[in-house]
Amino acid sequence: MSNNNLFELKNIAKRFTKGKETITIFDNLCMDITSEHFIAIMGPSGSGKTTLLNMLGGVDRPTSGDIIYEGKAIQSLSENALASWRAANIGFIFQFYNLMPMLTAAQNVELPLLLKKLSRSERKKKIDAALTLVGLADRAKHKPDELSGGQQQRVAIARAIVSDPKLLLCDEPTGDLDRTTATEVLQTLQLLNQEFGKTVVMVTHDPAAAEFANLQLHLDKGEFIEQHKSESAA
Ligand SMILES: Nc1ncnc2c1ncn2[C@@H]1O[C@H](COP(=O)(O)OP(=O)(O)OP(=O)(O)O)[C@@H](O)[C@H]1O
Ligand SMILES: [Mg+2]
Repeated sequence: MSNNNLFELKNIAKRFTKGKETITIFDNLCMDITSEHFIAIMGPSGSGKTTLLNMLGGVDRPTSGDIIYEGKAIQSLSENALASWRAANIGFIFQFYNLMPMLTAAQNVELPLLLKKLSRSERKKKIDAALTLVGLADRAKHKPDELSGGQQQRVAIARAIVSDPKLLLCDEPTGDLDRTTATEVLQTLQLLNQEFGKTVVMVTHDPAAAEFANLQLHLDKGEFIEQHKSESAA
């Protein structure tokens, strides 16, 4: 285990029980996530990709096993401690952006900051910086329905990074976008990884999107079955 690991997953089991039926998603999953990597996770529908992201993000807990983040087991934190940990360390990006339709781009980006003790001007500075980084400084006052899909996803990325988390968890971030727009979003994720040192874990069904990562993992039947380093991450 190198000190460079942001996450270590040790012997993770995850089961869902409904009535008498138990579904095992993971039985003994082990995985390290190196700090400042951009990882793409691929795999068939139902293979547990979203479940894995939810466990990494502290939204869901494993049935057994350890999820170690910077040396600390997060699965044993209380709900409150886990929520604070999540707010400080994790940014989530979803397929359908999950923006609030009544709020402007800037107000959507502001949401995670409302949990923190920051003055209005400190919040504004961070919002401006995040929107500038995703190339949408001139759209701050627009509402989601006045923005294209790719722009909405970039607002969602700005919202995910505004608190400066180390890790971005992305669940099919380009699943609803055309190729050109998807490329813009992927280039933004790549920039965050390469220039700002964010660790990115991205679930995708699209091999072309996975090429933007520097490590591709394929999840099937509860295990990573293949690993291949991208030749070029461009
Ligand atoms: N809360 C839950 N209760 C019961 N079963 C669940 C729950 N959440 C997920 N599952 C089951 O776990 C399995 C993995 O689901 P998951 O959403 O992680 O798959 P996925 O790889 O993200 O699939 P997709 O590519 O379709 O998004 C599925 O069989 C799903 O039905
Ligand atoms: Mg999923």
